[in-house]
Amino acid sequence: MKAYVARRYGGPNVLSLEDVAKPEPASHEVLVRIVASSVNSGDVRVRGFDIPKGMRTMARLALGWSGPRQPIMGTEFSGVVEAVGAEVSRFQVGDRVFGFPGGKMGAHAEFIAMPANGRIAKLPAGLSFEQGAALCFGGSTALHFLRQAKLRPGESILIIGATGTVGHALAQLAQHRGARVSAVTSTGNVELLSERKFDRVIDYKTTPLASLNLGFDIIADCADALDFKSAQRLLKPKGRYLSVAGTLKEMLAALVPGPHGTKMIAGPAAERVEDISLLAELAEKGHFAPLIDTIIPFPQLPDAHARAQSKQKRGTVVVLHQ
Ligand SMILES: NC(=O)c1ccc[n+]([C@@H]2O[C@H](COP(=O)([O-])OP(=O)(O)OC[C@H]3O[C@@H](n4cnc5c(N)ncnc54)[C@H](OP(=O)(O)O)[C@@H]3O)[C@@H](O)[C@H]2O)c1
Repeated sequence: MKAYVARRYGGPNVLSLEDVAKPEPASHEVLVRIVASSVNSGDVRVRGFDIPKGMRTMARLALGWSGPRQPIMGTEFSGVVEAVGAEVSRFQVGDRVFGFPGGKMGAHAEFIAMPANGRIAKLPAGLSFEQGAALCFGGSTALHFLRQAKLRPGESILIIGATGTVGHALAQLAQHRGARVSAVTSTGNVELLSERKFDRVIDYKTTPLASLNLGFDIIADCADALDFKSAQRLLKPKGRYLSVAGTLKEMLAALVPGPHGTKMIAGPAAERVEDISLLAELAEKGHFAPLIDTIIPFPQLPDAHARAQSKQKRGTVVVLHQ
């Protein structure tokens, strides 16, 4: 089968289209012919080895020394079941599905094999393959951080990076859970967010966050725009600062509680099987609609990587395989 592979770390030009072995589904697996996938900040980070100083040796051991050990990126996909293993009863050939290999990646290919009881679910009837391919990376990260924050209805949440993949999912899912959402973005995206009926849209280009005279129960920082110390000014007592974009430094700092009962939450989001069906349900009921930036044909996957890291995109870059 055809797949895009990165044999070394570097810019989008390290990606090349190769013939690789088509996966053989084991007895507990389904084989999916991929229709759409996404290129997101996770793909960009691994391909470019965009790892903060101090974590690079550990990252090379985890990801691969001079190039990614898993050379096929792609954390999420939608597609059609092509074959099922002998033990599989949950799916049938021809089912429309979406899934989240997450950190295992492998979705920038013609086919992927997934455990039938893993992070894969039927695609709700009203959803396109393009939407299905953009549900999981932002959606499951958002669900994780909302769970960690123990968001309660009526609480106020400031979301920095609200037109990003994760931030936009956070804004919608927090609003659905009854939070009062203040969405932060740059000038060019204010109109888009204003249409989404969040409680407040803040243009950080004209209103520096430090100048805000507001208090929040939760701050979700998807852009590394603040740190726990500077977030204190904007947090109510017992407030939670979600360092979504944080790294090991923030994970270590999060071990120390802040003043007035505040706390920082950081670290990699859990990739849970249950969240995939939950995202399908939320999308089907209209509570979560991923924002799609562009749809780029599979043969131009390096362009999708360039777009994803351009800092121009709004939402998720989707790749159409067929
Ligand atoms: N912890 C985890 O498990 C986990 C999981 C997924 C992602 N992440 C991390 O979370 C971050 C967000 O991921 P993503 O996929 O949502 O990225 P993304 O789609 O690129 O979104 C980032 C957003 O940040 C905004 N932004 C950039 N600079 C800003 C600034 N100075 N002030 C305020 N906003 C700014 C951009 O909006 P404007 O264009 O309006 O500036 C953009 O929408 C990344 O660092 C990623 O590595 C962590």
